[in-house]
Amino acid sequence: MIIAIDGPSGTGKSTVAKELAHRLGFTFFDTGAMYRSFAWKIVQENIDPTDQAKVVSILPRFGYSIRKDQRGERRYFVGDQDVTEAIREVQISPIASQIATYSEVRKALVKIQRAFGHRSDAVFEGRDMGTVVFPDADLKIFLTARPAVRAKRRYHELMAKFPDLAESLNIDQVQKELEERDLNDMNRSISPLRQASDAILIDTSDLSVSQVVGKIIRLGSQKENHYPKMKWAYRIIYLLARGYFRLFFRLKIYGLEHYRRGKGVLAANHNSNLDPPVLSVSCPEEVHFLAKESLFHVPLLGRLIRTLNSHPVSRGASDAQTFRTIIQLLQHGHKVILFPEGSRSFDGELQPIERGLPFLVQKSQSTVFPAYIEGTFQAWPRTQKMPKLWGKITCVFGSPIEWEDFEGLDKRQAEEQISQRIGRSLRELRSWLQSGAKGSPP
Ligand code: DC
Repeated sequence: MIIAIDGPSGTGKSTVAKELAHRLGFTFFDTGAMYRSFAWKIVQENIDPTDQAKVVSILPRFGYSIRKDQRGERRYFVGDQDVTEAIREVQISPIASQIATYSEVRKALVKIQRAFGHRSDAVFEGRDMGTVVFPDADLKIFLTARPAVRAKRRYHELMAKFPDLAESLNIDQVQKELEERDLNDMNRSISPLRQASDAILIDTSDLSVSQVVGKIIRLGSQKENHYPKMKWAYRIIYLLARGYFRLFFRLKIYGLEHYRRGKGVLAANHNSNLDPPVLSVSCPEEVHFLAKESLFHVPLLGRLIRTLNSHPVSRGASDAQTFRTIIQLLQHGHKVILFPEGSRSFDGELQPIERGLPFLVQKSQSTVFPAYIEGTFQAWPRTQKMPKLWGKITCVFGSPIEWEDFEGLDKRQAEEQISQRIGRSLRELRSWLQSGAKGSPP
C-alpha cells in the first residue's frame, strides 16, 4: 500500500508522514530530503544552481542512499558523506527549490522514488507524490496550514536545530522565505506543487500531529481492500453462527456505518456469555477476544475458540500480563472485544466503567468502538446454567471515541474522561434503541 502525502513546507508533512509510517509499520520516504541532498552536492561541487546544464551533469555522480544508525534512525548519505543535518541548513532550501525545477533532475529522482515504492508498504512525502510519482497511490493526502502557522512552525524547527541563528532570524523573514519557495514550487512548469484531484485536503493549522495522523489512518481504513479477508475456518464458523443468531434470536445489527476495520477496541456492555459470539458475528471482520485459559483445555470448545481468535488469560494472571496480551493484539492491528464494565451484570442493567480500559486506550493509542447489546441477558443470564434456545438480540454500534481527543490531558484526567465517554455512549445507544431505533445511532 502506498500513501502519498503532499503539501508545502510547514504544514507538518514530514512529522505527520513519519509518525503515520511508524504507527502503520510502513517505510517512510521523505523525498524533499532527496532534493536537498542533491542541492548539497551542487554546493559541494561549487556549481551555480542556476546553471542548468552544469547541475544536470552532476546527476550521474549523485550516489544517494538511506541507512539506519544503531538506534534505528534513518540517515541520509551522498556517497560516503552523512548529510542528514547539513541538508536542513537554511541556505540549502532555496537551492533545493531551484534545482527541483529542472526536468532531468526530477526524472532521475522520481525513478529512484518509484523503485523504493515497489519494495514495500510506504508513506511517501513530497510535492508531487499524488500527481506524478504515484498517481495510483492507495491514499492521497494534501496538507495545508495558514501561512502564519507554517512560518511559526518552520521558525521553531530551525531554532531547535540551529540555535546559533537566534539573532539573525525572525518569523517575518521565515514567512517571506516560505512564500517565495511556495511560489517557486507552485509555478514551475514541471510537476508543480498542487493537490491531485483525488487527494483529500487536511488543514493542519489547529490540529496536533496525532490528530492529523489519526484522521489519515481512519481515511485509510475505509479503503477496505487493504485488510485481509477472514481465514476460511473463521469464516465458516462465523457464517454458521451468524445464521443461527439471525434465525433463532432474530439478531438485528445497527450502526455499522460507524464501524471501521483494523486496530481498535470494541467496548460493549456485559450481560452474558453470549456477548462475545454475538459481537463477533455482528462485526464485518475477524475480531479477537480473551477467554479463561481453562476453556482452552475443553476438547472441542478449546479448538473452536482458538479458531475464533480467542486468547487465553490464566486465572492467576496479573493485570499487567493481561494488558500486555491486549496491547500486543492492538499493536498487530487487531480489533479486540473488551467489556469495560468488568464482569457480567446480575440484573441486565448497565454498570459503572472500570479503570482498565481507558488506561489501555491511552497506552495503545486505540480508537474505541462502543457497542450496546440487548437481549443476551434474557437469553442467558449468569444465574442460569444453560442458555434459552431462542429469543431476541440486538447489537448497536455507536460513534467511535478517538484517543487523540484526550491527548492534552494528564493521564488520570484522560482515563476519567474516557470512562465517562464510554459510559455515556452506552447509555445513549440504549435510549436510541429503546425509543424506536430511528436514523443512525449516536
Ligand atoms: O519538503 P522540503 O522542504 O524538504 O523540500 C525541499 C525542496 O525540494 C522544496 O522546495 C521543493 C523540492 N521538492 C520537490 O520539488 N518535489 C518533492 N517531491 C519534494 C521536494
